[in-house]
Amino acid sequence: MDRYVVIGNPVSHSLSPTIQSAFARAAGQAIEYTKLLVPVGEFAQHARRFFDDGGRGANVTLPFKVDAFEWADVRSDRASIAGAANFLMSRDGRIHADNTDGAGLVSDLTRNLGVSIDRAKILLLGAGGAARGIVAPLLAANPSRFVIANRTAARALELAARFRGRGAVEGVALDAIPRERYDLVLNATSTSTRGEPLPLPEHALPRGSFAYDLAYGAGARAFVERAESAGMKASDGLGMLVEQAAESFELWRGVRPDTAPVLAGLRANMA
Ligand code: ATR
Repeated sequence: MDRYVVIGNPVSHSLSPTIQSAFARAAGQAIEYTKLLVPVGEFAQHARRFFDDGGRGANVTLPFKVDAFEWADVRSDRASIAGAANFLMSRDGRIHADNTDGAGLVSDLTRNLGVSIDRAKILLLGAGGAARGIVAPLLAANPSRFVIANRTAARALELAARFRGRGAVEGVALDAIPRERYDLVLNATSTSTRGEPLPLPEHALPRGSFAYDLAYGAGARAFVERAESAGMKASDGLGMLVEQAAESFELWRGVRPDTAPVLAGLRANMA
């Protein structure tokens, strides 16, 4: 049976085995997909062993996405732009790295949530690892404006500069967000996963617009509820998790899974 893993630390909470097993069942494919806990600093040796033992592919989660990117033999453009990989695949004796996070986010927004990115004004909160992976796929969907706001302004400026030439991207400090009417506000800071407050001006949460937290579950609740009480429509990032998994499954197995029943099942379990 073809073997796959999700590599992380911690990894016990990962929903990837549940999601990938559901995709495989629906596609009538027999795969084994398990969790692989790896000590920090030991990514390469554990990944090498897994693939040397015949493993076919891996998803990679925190804190190893940069290690995975650097360790792979071949890197996709979208992994190179993100500087990080959440996907590895063994093909022709070489390990290929890709990043399906951004595509997962765009699929969730446009297909599942009915949010249009074309000509939208986007405000992205955060400039760390999570933010870096989603800028290029969002820009490819043709927003009219793209503001990256971060607590440490220098990181926002630096991230915006990487995408100069790909669209009107601007980096600012969190307390200097331009007063504009944003259509889509994305929280890619780690405040949700860490349960920390995120100081934001009122105009960063415009009534009637859409707010999205890349985290899911209990962590994302504070941001989602705050956005809703400001009169926004809002979602956590559970759909992004399922869509990036679908993108991975398709690359490995050649079949595009139907994500709706899997996402509905996870939502029901969480409720
Ligand atoms: P991740 O991979 O989850 O993005 P990261 O690379 O450490 O993790 O980035 C965390 C992001 O959340 C950064 O944008 C960080 O802002 P700084 O660059 O100023 O550190 C942001 N962040 C973390 N804690 C925050 C807080 N309490 N308030 C505002 N932003 C915060």
